[in-house]
Amino acid sequence: MVPLSQLGIVSGDRLNDWPAHLPDWPRDTTLGRFSEAFHGDYPRWANAVRDLPPIDALSVDYGPTITLNGTTDCIRLEETLKHLHPWRKGPFSIAGVHIETEWRSDWKWDRVASALHNFTGKRVLDIGCGNGYFGWRMLAAGAREVIGIDPTLLFCMQHLAIQKYIQDFRNWVLPLRIEEIPATEQFDAVFSMGVIYHRRDPVAHCRDLFNLTAAGGLAVLESLVVEDKKNLIPTGRYARMRNVWCVPIPAQLEEWMCDAGFTDVKVIDVSRTTIDEQHSTDWMTFESLPEALDPENPDLTVEGHPAPVRAIVTGIR
Ligand SMILES: C[S@@+](CC[C@H](N)C(=O)[O-])C[C@H]1O[C@@H](n2cnc3c(N)ncnc32)[C@H](O)[C@@H]1O
Repeated sequence: MVPLSQLGIVSGDRLNDWPAHLPDWPRDTTLGRFSEAFHGDYPRWANAVRDLPPIDALSVDYGPTITLNGTTDCIRLEETLKHLHPWRKGPFSIAGVHIETEWRSDWKWDRVASALHNFTGKRVLDIGCGNGYFGWRMLAAGAREVIGIDPTLLFCMQHLAIQKYIQDFRNWVLPLRIEEIPATEQFDAVFSMGVIYHRRDPVAHCRDLFNLTAAGGLAVLESLVVEDKKNLIPTGRYARMRNVWCVPIPAQLEEWMCDAGFTDVKVIDVSRTTIDEQHSTDWMTFESLPEALDPENPDLTVEGHPAPVRAIVTGIR
């Protein structure tokens, strides 16, 4: 365990230290992004992390709900955590405050976990990791270290809020894009979940996954898919989301992974996303999946596309 001071929350609002064991490559970029210059809301979020009340007699359980047991001023805790709205990935339960997130990410984890043979001791990269929920699950599954990257600074701040209590610095959430990871870096396992359909060049994304995976390592690719004969290329939005460039058929995901160089490529799961799995809550009050479905026919999105289905594909380098 590394003390919180090494995480670098100094005077409550500045990350300015970098633990020696982390690779140096993202240091300056990462530190520079914990700033008002990178995101205007940073001071407000940093104040929230600083103002979190202490928890007495803390103990931690990594799932399915990431649970921090202990006693605190629950009213102040809930109020402060809500400054980090919207909470999308979880669930978390902190000293009796249950963060009901937009997603039941534990359900996605259950589908992924069947692929994780021999996960003990692995060093993992989680691309587009959100607030790091899956990182905690990966540690529980035996990972040695998880480096999560996500350019959305709010999610990094949510991770800091959790880390302020847990102080288990085997799980990182850094405000970086996949494009910024040097091609020389390699990991025992690389996860890309919910990212590829936002990439303009999905073939290049699979090539990046290959290059970032060490020889013999595992890649896990999760994507929206269509259960159809051909890929869907939305002309406008898909399920109210901007920047969805291609919703492939599962066989297309396999082909991209094989073309990138992976072997033993297989689809391990295809599941429809239900409104039980993704919906608005008190902790994510914006519109969510229910509002993205056609009220007359929930098999379709409001744009008339097939309703969201997701597939998980694995490959070995
Ligand atoms: C749909 S969410 C998926 C989150 C999580 N992996 C999951 O499966 O629940 C996609 C995430 O990718 C992040 N993202 C967007 N562009 C990215 C990039 N270039 N590199 C890494 N992450 C990115 C977003 O900020 C967002 O948190």
